[in-house]
Amino acid sequence: MESSSSAVYYVFLLFFPLVFFLTRKKSSKKLPPGSLGIPIIGQSLCLLRAMKANKAEEWLQNRIHKYAANKFIYTCDEKILNNQQPTSTRRIFGDRNIIELSGEDHKRVRGALLSFLKPEALKQSVAKIDEEIKLHLEKHWHGRKEIAVMPLMKTLTFNIICSLIFGIERGPRRDTLVELFAHLLEGMLALPIDLPFTRLNRSLRARSKIRDIILELIHEKREKLEKQETPHHQDLITSLLNVRDDTSSPLLSDEEIVDNSIIIMIAGHDTSSAVLTFFIKLLAENPDVYKQVIDEQEEIVREKAFREVLTWDDLAKMKYAWRVALESMRINPPLFGNFRRVLQDIELGGYVIPKGWQVMCAACMTHMDETIFPDPSKFEPSRFENQGATPAYSFVAFGGGPRMCPGYEFARIETLTMVHYLITGFQWKLSLEENFFSRNPMPVFNKGLPIQIEVKKPIVDAV
Ligand code: HEM
Repeated sequence: MESSSSAVYYVFLLFFPLVFFLTRKKSSKKLPPGSLGIPIIGQSLCLLRAMKANKAEEWLQNRIHKYAANKFIYTCDEKILNNQQPTSTRRIFGDRNIIELSGEDHKRVRGALLSFLKPEALKQSVAKIDEEIKLHLEKHWHGRKEIAVMPLMKTLTFNIICSLIFGIERGPRRDTLVELFAHLLEGMLALPIDLPFTRLNRSLRARSKIRDIILELIHEKREKLEKQETPHHQDLITSLLNVRDDTSSPLLSDEEIVDNSIIIMIAGHDTSSAVLTFFIKLLAENPDVYKQVIDEQEEIVREKAFREVLTWDDLAKMKYAWRVALESMRINPPLFGNFRRVLQDIELGGYVIPKGWQVMCAACMTHMDETIFPDPSKFEPSRFENQGATPAYSFVAFGGGPRMCPGYEFARIETLTMVHYLITGFQWKLSLEENFFSRNPMPVFNKGLPIQIEVKKPIVDAV
């Protein structure tokens, strides 16, 4: 393990189901201190309860051991720490999804996804995202005095992904997918029992229907590609059909395209909607920051022609807004933590973490370390003025190492584009005095974070 002199990182050791059951026998090894929880269940239920009550940070604080580095977790050899998901999750997402893959298979699929998610390819998608956002604001924000932010942000990010990943226009096929994905997601937190009336079973049935729709799309898009009727980067599925290996064979099988389209949909929409929701809340609570974001966006409007869509270069000018988003993710990381399974005994900080245990790296705790981020509870976007000065693996909202989020640029584009139209088109204030959220496992606000809105400019004129 490599220790970092510039920062202290945390590793949290949680003892999950089977794992602990198998390793409970008396060991001569020096195990990390703390309770192992009850057999089979370990401490998972306690953690889930704490997350629901939004007390997970406190729960972790009592179990924290400052003896290892995030870098170790994020960059460790996959023969020692790997990413295996529980069997039921694997069945829902499909066993060829990127999270499940390791070694050369992981590199190949990640490379293929990045052929669409890399900045050069995404530049062409800004206009499409711009269009989805304007349609969304026209339909769901205009003419309203009060809205619940969180459910609307989920609708928006779902629609953006549908358009950019699946290339599906608004209409019945998109509506069907919304419903199917809602059922599919329910299975993630359900008991792993597959019987005709269980949530897992409903989730698996939804997966099977989503698979049929994606296979149908693959067929349609392959035909269009063959007839050269579509650009190669039209959407993720088209792009994946188009990536080839050295022998000109497709790099991904159809089943891999299905599983990875599903995982991108799940990984990409709840995370970005959480960022946008916190963004709105934090601006309403911090008028100075709100004003600086307005100044930056109005400067951009002044430089653009009437009704001109945003471009990649406009987004590059939104430096302050992105710092606000990063600071919002520092304080409230959308993903609470990343898990890894221990495949070989590991020695860490004088303790042995036995094979079979689960290790959890909780971004929220690293982000609240005052040795890295002074006065960590303070909302202070200027911390990110010089990102190079932040020690490596200490801002980990997007993870780190070979599995670092490949959707970073995508998330940046959709966040900044939405921020632009929100700031230039509306002003808002929080409806409730108390706005709290629980984790389920993604953040869920009480009443969806209601806000009162006023239109500054109709959205069609705001461009
Ligand atoms: C603000 C929004 C987002 C946040 C905070 C976020 C966070 C993360 C984190 C922390 C990981 C690493 C998990 C680990 O190490 O186990 C991850 C992985 C991943 N994310 Fe994101 N994500 C976001 C948006 C997106 C978007 C928009 C997409 C796709 C369009 C996406 C696709 C993925 C994929 C495919 C992985 C798995 C990578 C791999 O295993 O190599 N994410 N994300």
